[in-house]
Amino acid sequence: MANITLKVNGKTHTVDVEPSTPLLYILRNDLDLHGPHFGCGLGQCGACTVLIKGEAVRSCTRPVSSVQGAEITTLEGLSSGGTLHPIQQAWIDEQVPQCGYCQNGQMLTAKALLDKNPNPTDAEIRQGMAGTLCRCMTYYRIQAAIKRAAKVMA
Ligand code: FES
Ligand code: FES
Repeated sequence: MANITLKVNGKTHTVDVEPSTPLLYILRNDLDLHGPHFGCGLGQCGACTVLIKGEAVRSCTRPVSSVQGAEITTLEGLSSGGTLHPIQQAWIDEQVPQCGYCQNGQMLTAKALLDKNPNPTDAEIRQGMAGTLCRCMTYYRIQAAIKRAAKVMA
């Protein structure tokens, strides 16, 4: 066990954990942040995505010790002061979620995409979102929501 300091959604936390524990487990079980979901546990679905230094990262395969001190943002940190982020609002406006299980990863991957490319084409959206899986097949609505959010964020 070791003391590890994490910066999550602008707050600093110190946890006493096994350093190889996946970041996802610490976020959900120790910090009570349930935005990131456990899907495959193998880095293959994207349900557990968080942002680390602005990059979309799969927290189920990332040892907590490797992200010590880095700025981590979960879905809970996307809104500010009670106001939804334009991506979250676009997801509501386009009625994207079906079961909702994957949507944490979809929104955070979209955030990383739009931060790098504020006005992506359909092909760029498909490429940027590839590998973030949705068993409910909400991909077309996700694409529409990303375009809607891009307009608001422009
Ligand atoms: S749960 Fe992490 S990629 Fe599937
Ligand atoms: S909304 Fe059900 S898995 Fe994506």
